[in-house]
Amino acid sequence: MGNQVGTARLLGWGNQTLKPNREEDFVEKNIGFPCRVVTGNKAVQSVFDIELFKKEEFCFGVAEVRRDFTEGICPSVSSNGKIHEKNKGFLMEVIAKAGEGIPSSTASSVLSNISKWGSTAMSDFESKLLAVAADTVLPNIFGESSSFNAEDIRLYIIGATEVRSCIVKALTSKNLDEERQAMRSIIGKIKTSERYQQLMDLGHAYGLGEAETTAQLLLPVFFNGVAGIRANLVSSFARLDTISAEDREELREEALAALKKHGGLTRESLEEMPKMESFVLEVLRACPSPMFWSTIATRPTTVEYTTDSGEHALKIKEGERVYASSYWALRDPAVFDKPEDFMWRRFLGPEGDARRKHHVIFHGRLTDTPAVNNHMCPGRDVSLSALKGSIAIFNTFFGWELQEPPVWTGTKMTRGSQPDYEVKIKSFWVQHPEDLKEIFPSHFRDIIDEADDVDDIDVLVKTKTGTYSGSGTNSNVYIRLFDDKGHQSRELQLDVWWKNDFEKGQEGQYKLKDVKVAAPIVKIELFRDGCQPDDDWYCESVSVQLNPDNSGPTYDFSVNRWIRQNDHVWLCPGGCEGPQDDVNPKDD
Ligand code: HEM
Repeated sequence: MGNQVGTARLLGWGNQTLKPNREEDFVEKNIGFPCRVVTGNKAVQSVFDIELFKKEEFCFGVAEVRRDFTEGICPSVSSNGKIHEKNKGFLMEVIAKAGEGIPSSTASSVLSNISKWGSTAMSDFESKLLAVAADTVLPNIFGESSSFNAEDIRLYIIGATEVRSCIVKALTSKNLDEERQAMRSIIGKIKTSERYQQLMDLGHAYGLGEAETTAQLLLPVFFNGVAGIRANLVSSFARLDTISAEDREELREEALAALKKHGGLTRESLEEMPKMESFVLEVLRACPSPMFWSTIATRPTTVEYTTDSGEHALKIKEGERVYASSYWALRDPAVFDKPEDFMWRRFLGPEGDARRKHHVIFHGRLTDTPAVNNHMCPGRDVSLSALKGSIAIFNTFFGWELQEPPVWTGTKMTRGSQPDYEVKIKSFWVQHPEDLKEIFPSHFRDIIDEADDVDDIDVLVKTKTGTYSGSGTNSNVYIRLFDDKGHQSRELQLDVWWKNDFEKGQEGQYKLKDVKVAAPIVKIELFRDGCQPDDDWYCESVSVQLNPDNSGPTYDFSVNRWIRQNDHVWLCPGGCEGPQDDVNPKDD
């Protein structure tokens, strides 16, 4: 197969073009150039051996770094030998120091970014998560006063690499003035940052001059680091939408208990979130990025490996390109049961611990240690803390509705680990204000913006219970109201004392006092708690009238469904509803 066909197939079908038969490994392919693609989980270990396989300078698999985006200096990730040792030693020390502040910077980054979002649709949500990743990592490296512009970082990331194929380069060539300007702005901020001199002194201690030190702070931190966390944050966030409401609640309970016990996001609270860790590791397993670990054989060698079809010994020539596919190595059924399924508990307990030696997303086993004489990611621990912490905060306090359900087909090369289509938010809100207020009071004030509070009003809620047999319930029913300015009421119980509220075929009326919302109401959340597990409620409709004594506006919501224990249903006036609609579809 020619180079152009190879490029076209890879661009059109992504990881699926490399689908292995699991009978042999180190298979010859053309992905824009000839190479051997390794897809077995155990076989990739040989590719990690830097004695046998070296990096191609300035290259990441089918992409290459534009040299003027690293000031002509090869970034650590694709450097070799003594130069790599200096680069990596410096970066490992920078990143290890940064790691200490990551839990608290994660909390303040997520919450302070959310305070700028509002509750309406966000079509640029992925860029917003880039700002979250940047504010989590960068203050810990360049100092608290560092303020990098997320848009500059986005443009720098776009400019920094290109696909190696000449045809693709010709077809996609564009003026990169904006991207170069963004890079200059980032370098300017690095050079005027609070910790610049300390970073230069540290670089010097590793034998790096000022230009080399600055270059290693550019691509490795902004591209490997900030963009790496952002991509996996997008995937982790979107994956939350694919698990059941019960599972999300289980993750929430674990995180809430740890956050309450330690008074916020700390190293200790993160350690008490093994379920969240397993969730994040499964996200990294199921949709890994980078797509390839690319190497060149340093000398003629024979690799020995075993597959379903038996033992193999294969001669590799010096200079041959050998590319390990992270996607297929992490889908190897020899080490991961049902590899296509997203099973977030996979890395829990003793069996889950044992599986970690097969989790190679950081270019080495999770049980290995990054070092100057390997190419394992030095940002592993920082990444895991930032991802666990961010997802714990999103899932513990907030609710959202995506514009469309995320899908991962493994065919979209340019999306890397992220879902096939850009993740966009339809609406976003504080789901558990009481918990947020208790654990992060100052962020709560910023997010809810008490200065902009609305007046307390009376609200009349009417419910209509269905006429099917068993429609009525004696359980606890609640409602929360959302207005178009982002205000939301507290949870309001629909209960009239000494009355059986939700009787078959009956209308219930509930007058609620001191409710903080204003017209118009754009959404309601109708829900039940865990009481009366077997006493389901069939609700036909709900109406909400604001200021009933002054004939305020009424909003009608058709419900027409069973509401079971712990179900949450989000409804808009006139009938639209969101995907969080908490009646778990998989269990029906
Ligand atoms: C979930 C997020 C991340 C993932 C999945 C990831 C993954 C990887 C992988 C696979 C490599 C090796 C690439 C190769 O050899 O082709 C690598 C290298 C590297 N990563 Fe990460 N990374 C992540 C986050 C970070 C962060 C947050 C930082 C820094 C703050 C970072 C800094 C680096 C550096 C400096 C290297 C080069 C290592 C070397 O020179 O040996 N990464 N990363």
